[in-house]
Amino acid sequence: MNDQQPARTAPEVLATDIVLPNQTNNYNTMFGGEVMAMMDKTAAIAALQFCRQPVVTASSERIDFRTPIHAGEIIEAVARVIYTGRTSMIVRVRIFAEHPLTGERRMCTTGYFSMVTTSKTGERVPVPPLLLEDEHAREEWIVGEEIRRAIDGRRR
Ligand SMILES: CC(C)(COP(=O)(O)OP(=O)(O)OC[C@H]1O[C@@H](n2cnc3c(N)ncnc32)[C@H](O)[C@@H]1OP(=O)(O)O)[C@@H](O)C(=O)NCCC(=O)NCCS
Repeated sequence: MNDQQPARTAPEVLATDIVLPNQTNNYNTMFGGEVMAMMDKTAAIAALQFCRQPVVTASSERIDFRTPIHAGEIIEAVARVIYTGRTSMIVRVRIFAEHPLTGERRMCTTGYFSMVTTSKTGERVPVPPLLLEDEHAREEWIVGEEIRRAIDGRRR
């Protein structure tokens, strides 16, 4: 299926930022679209660092905004490839917010993205199979499989 590339583990990718006033809404909390942009970008980096091929976002899946993020907070996106198909990957992204003075930290948003390889000539490049190194990776793979089933269902 994956053209016999060796299986590879997927490292967690971290991206940090601070919420500025131009990223907020009338409630002084971060715009959902800004949060999603950071998630998408971090998902792309996680996919790139995993497969080392050009990728595009095929879909965003199941994004949950659990708690608001306030202006001035430090935010961190944590992303990892959790599932691999032939030319696509499901990437899990979590957004954490941290109070800059107390260091108090909470998880605010979770989401999944499907990233697909691409090339200048348009053909799809196979990705390496994901090596499931521990129980946590195996649990996340099962979540990725569910998401992949939902994608396949929509595309029928
Ligand atoms: C995403 C895209 C490359 C898929 O093209 P396609 O010809 O339909 O793809 P294929 O049928 O060959 O499928 C290729 C892979 O993409 C996955 N895929 C295709 N459409 C998808 C969708 N809507 N959502 C999630 N995954 C999708 C398939 O499951 C398949 O995975 P697999 O190889 O692991 O089995 C194409 O629709 C596209 O270029 N979209 C625009 C991307 C973009 O501009 N993104 C924003 C900027 S990065």
